[in-house]
Amino acid sequence: MFVCLGNICRSPAAEGILRSMAAEEGLSERLGIDSAGTYGGHRGDLPDPRMRSAAARRGYSLTHRARQVCEEDFERFDLIVTMDDMNYETLHRLAPSREAARRIFRMTEFCRRHPDRTYVPDPYYEGREGFELVLDMLEDGCRGILEYLEQSEKA
Ligand code: 4NP
Repeated sequence: MFVCLGNICRSPAAEGILRSMAAEEGLSERLGIDSAGTYGGHRGDLPDPRMRSAAARRGYSLTHRARQVCEEDFERFDLIVTMDDMNYETLHRLAPSREAARRIFRMTEFCRRHPDRTYVPDPYYEGREGFELVLDMLEDGCRGILEYLEQSEKA
């Protein structure tokens, strides 16, 4: 599960990208992929139109409806992947146990082509380049997640 603040830009885009990559690799049946926000103010909304059109240009259709993170998410998902420090810290505060907190990661931990980035920047108040950078980072991170899952399966 991917987590950002509003669940209308970064995390639903990551969800759509991983869904598409998983489908290409024949993994759709085996992976439960979702996203949520730490802030619930956009609940029920489709992703931001700027993100939907930037993603569509790369072939990703984003249809997720925004929702807020809830405690059950810590039981349902093996990997909880946050976009920035604020999401990472909020999720640690919400985690019901230390065991659950060990499932919280940062998206940049999975990025291979953006070694200097420690967070995925919030594009909400940015221009078009902001959205393109976010999509580049999310594609990079999603590839990293698939590799990580493949390695964990072998171990
Ligand atoms: P996201 O972007 O966390 O990537 O979905 C944002 C969306 C909405 C707001 C902030 C960030 N907002 O303040 O409403």
